[in-house]
Amino acid sequence: MNYKGYAYINTIGCQMNVYDSEKLAGILSSYGFEMTNEMDKADIVVCNTCSIRHKAEEKAFSFLGRFAREKKKRPHLITVMAGCVAQQEGEKAFARVPHLDIVLGTQAFSRFGQHLDALKSGKKQIVDIEESDMIFEASDITKSGESGFDENRISKFITIMQGCDNYCTYCVVPYVRGRERSRSHTAIVDEIKILAGNGIREITLLGQNVNSYGIKEEGISFPQLLEKVSKVEGIARIRFATSHPKDLSMELIHAIRDIDKVCNHLHLPVQSGSNKILKKMNRGYTRETYIERIKALKTACPDIALSTDIIVGFPSETSEDFNDTMELLRQVEFDSIFAFAYSDRSSAPAAKFSDQVEEKEKMIRLNRLLELQEEYTEKKNKALVGKQVEVLVEGESQKQRDGFKKTSDKMKQMTGRSASNKVVHFPSENSAIGDLITIRIENAYPHSLWGHPLGAEKR
Ligand code: 5AD
Ligand code: SF4
Repeated sequence: MNYKGYAYINTIGCQMNVYDSEKLAGILSSYGFEMTNEMDKADIVVCNTCSIRHKAEEKAFSFLGRFAREKKKRPHLITVMAGCVAQQEGEKAFARVPHLDIVLGTQAFSRFGQHLDALKSGKKQIVDIEESDMIFEASDITKSGESGFDENRISKFITIMQGCDNYCTYCVVPYVRGRERSRSHTAIVDEIKILAGNGIREITLLGQNVNSYGIKEEGISFPQLLEKVSKVEGIARIRFATSHPKDLSMELIHAIRDIDKVCNHLHLPVQSGSNKILKKMNRGYTRETYIERIKALKTACPDIALSTDIIVGFPSETSEDFNDTMELLRQVEFDSIFAFAYSDRSSAPAAKFSDQVEEKEKMIRLNRLLELQEEYTEKKNKALVGKQVEVLVEGESQKQRDGFKKTSDKMKQMTGRSASNKVVHFPSENSAIGDLITIRIENAYPHSLWGHPLGAEKR
């Protein structure tokens, strides 16, 4: 069926949801909807949800809840809950959001159009949380990046595998995204070729544990996939997330070292520095083996930037356990961290663990950790002063920086990222979005760098 009207998508959560939302936008476009950034104008509102922490889940319910009044005024308005909270709640979502029309689980995206048609034919409150081993190949519907939904013109996320088989005890992912399965390398490379043809310069390959890409399917390995992707003309940079420390192979370390387009940055979530907690989390490595992996990595790639995820306040985490995490930060010196207070998820095993840590204590630990990390983030940034870094230009800076002088009419303050994923601002007369230029770093701030382009700016 063909529709007329505007569609609004609200994306909550991780990069994979950003990718999924683009696919939803593609389906909506192919059904005749036009994407809008104005919520009030929309004839269909989709919330692509995340259930990793309680807060994200609440955000989804409160966003969708807002449309109760709007729907009374405009009964034709369609509201959709998609993604992880939809998968987790199923039918129960209607109890909290009675005006909801469609609950679209994580593995139901290929049937979205079908459900829209059913709704048009009079069906009410549709729930689809069926599990599936298939991976939805959006190119069946519309080519990635053609929906006009996402405005990022140079960088895109690409999901290469879905689900997770690791069962960390705090995590809902295996329950809401199903078993781990990988897309075929030909589908991935074809999609990237289309993106490159549309001017995309940087891609981030996404999976819960990219190191096990293709293993179940007995296909090519992740480092082999990196090799293939690096051959796509037009793509200047390749990033990927996430690597599981237990599976970080020498083959991958060598791929980071040897494939030029693969960025010199690794996101390697450690979660905790305490062996007791790592065991209870079912992470499959110890603090010592994690550090040993980091050493192997730094030996092969001495300038590599490192980031990590940390959970504080996991059940039974004592102040000694927390201190072990603080000590790990001092030892590894990460470039940046993402830190979270443990959030109890009823479908994950840790919800049943005894000795839950008080919320107040979690917040104290979280703040102490973030405060400590500030030192290292700044230290890592300062170490770049006087060095040359290659920057992929993303656009004009939003804010005027110290040191910027408009010496000519054409002079603009631009921004981009280094391969190590640091934000770099610089003045320039002729650099354009998507250019790779070399910048000499002159100043370091807590969360960004400032410098000048070297020589003939463009490359
Ligand atoms: N509580 C807090 N943080 C969590 N994460 C996953 N599950 C939880 C939870 N229940 C964090 C982990 C993971 C990141 C994506 O989210 O650090 O690496
Ligand atoms: Fe969750 Fe662990 Fe899988 Fe990551 S590896 S998605 S934390 S179960």
